Amino acid sequence: MKIIVIGSGGREHAIAKTLLQSPQVQHVVCIPGNGGTARLKRCENVPLKIDQVDQFEAIANYAKTHAIDLIVVGPEAPLALGITDALQNHNLTVFGPTQAGAQIESSKAWAKALMSEASIPTAASAVFTDATSARAYLQSQGAPIVIKADGLASGKGVTVAMTLEEAEGAISAAFAGKFGVAGQKVVIEEYLTGQEVSILALTDGETIRPLISAQDHKRIGEGDTGPNTGGMGAYAPAPLVTPELSDNATHRLRDRINQEILIPTMETLKKRGISYRGVLYAGLMITPEGDPKVIEFNCRFGDPEIQAILPLLDTPLETLLLATAQGQLAQQEITWKPGACACVVAASDGYPGSFEKGFAITGIEVAEAQGAIVFEAGTTLKDNRPVTSGGRVLGVTAVGETHDLAFEKAYQAIASIYFQGLYYRRDIGYRVRQKNSP
Ligand code: AMP
Ligand code: GLY
Repeated sequence: MKIIVIGSGGREHAIAKTLLQSPQVQHVVCIPGNGGTARLKRCENVPLKIDQVDQFEAIANYAKTHAIDLIVVGPEAPLALGITDALQNHNLTVFGPTQAGAQIESSKAWAKALMSEASIPTAASAVFTDATSARAYLQSQGAPIVIKADGLASGKGVTVAMTLEEAEGAISAAFAGKFGVAGQKVVIEEYLTGQEVSILALTDGETIRPLISAQDHKRIGEGDTGPNTGGMGAYAPAPLVTPELSDNATHRLRDRINQEILIPTMETLKKRGISYRGVLYAGLMITPEGDPKVIEFNCRFGDPEIQAILPLLDTPLETLLLATAQGQLAQQEITWKPGACACVVAASDGYPGSFEKGFAITGIEVAEAQGAIVFEAGTTLKDNRPVTSGGRVLGVTAVGETHDLAFEKAYQAIASIYFQGLYYRRDIGYRVRQKNSP
């Protein structure tokens, strides 16, 4: 098979690297890719634009002239712009939902309406298109409360406001244009407490197959403090319930997530005439009562979650992605390797605010010789050597028999890596680790 992977992050490096482990995969083309994908054997980067509608034809032409069997779309932005529709018009096989399906991530109001129609458990909410009525609603609800820009905002559109002043500020900022058109519509939502977990499921619109659960760490600072980021580390599987509860409870919760959330979402998409083929990512809160509630849906693999999931996947990835894209997922079982996987993100100092780029990265080979897998995100090549080019630079990942062993290996490996301004959280996985310092 020849496969195109669209995107340039750690997620796309992890997908490309995993695909290339299969003897069925001859060649992978990353558009545009990064410094990590550029150095993979049997892989090349092609610098086409992925975030402009008028460039999708160029990608289609490339795929047709190079006899590409499958196109895997990594990020949400091209999906929301309709890359899948454009490529499918050329009879290409695409993993990733159409523009209509991608609304589940690109419009929080749309997703909320779908959940309400399907009676899917989620925070109570209301949608506003002007600041005055949003403020009036806020006064009637009180704090804590959550304010969300409707559209895509690179993970920065959500304010969890502990006070009314903070909530007011978020509403003013959104309607003043802080998030562009994405913030001209605002969802105000009930504040939920509990433990968050990410469930990434493959669906071809008829069958839905959850992957192993994962836990992300969204805040920049240790102890889950400071601003939200794209994700500073992850592990899989995530024990879905508190350890005191028995395995039966875990099974029951997985079952409820399927029956109450994943299946009704897929059925409702189908009812709306959407043939959804790709990832349905459910960001869930498990409330203190043990009930799963949807915080958000995404239309693509979570990053870094997928970096902690793929190393445990036993079934060849290309088989699953192709079956999903072709509507044949019912015939596929997914099998997993035993153990746990840990991913610690190495970021540029200053992220998620401003940061400097262009610093040489050393020690990747040393880390990999210690048994870790280094997925590259914000890297590029300068004189054939990796240098930093983004906020999240590397995902240092390791598999172990237990979460503790996986984290020990990941933290040992990250200690071998250096670039100027390297920052990472030392407490990734604190919920599942016995020892809480690297
Ligand atoms: P999102 O971009 O929707 O994933 O939101 C970012 C983060 O905000 C989530 O990971 C949660 O930690 C938090 N969050 C979002 N919605 C709620 C909610 N209704 N209650 C509490 N926290 C929330
Ligand atoms: N890590 C969170 C996300 O991919 O949205």
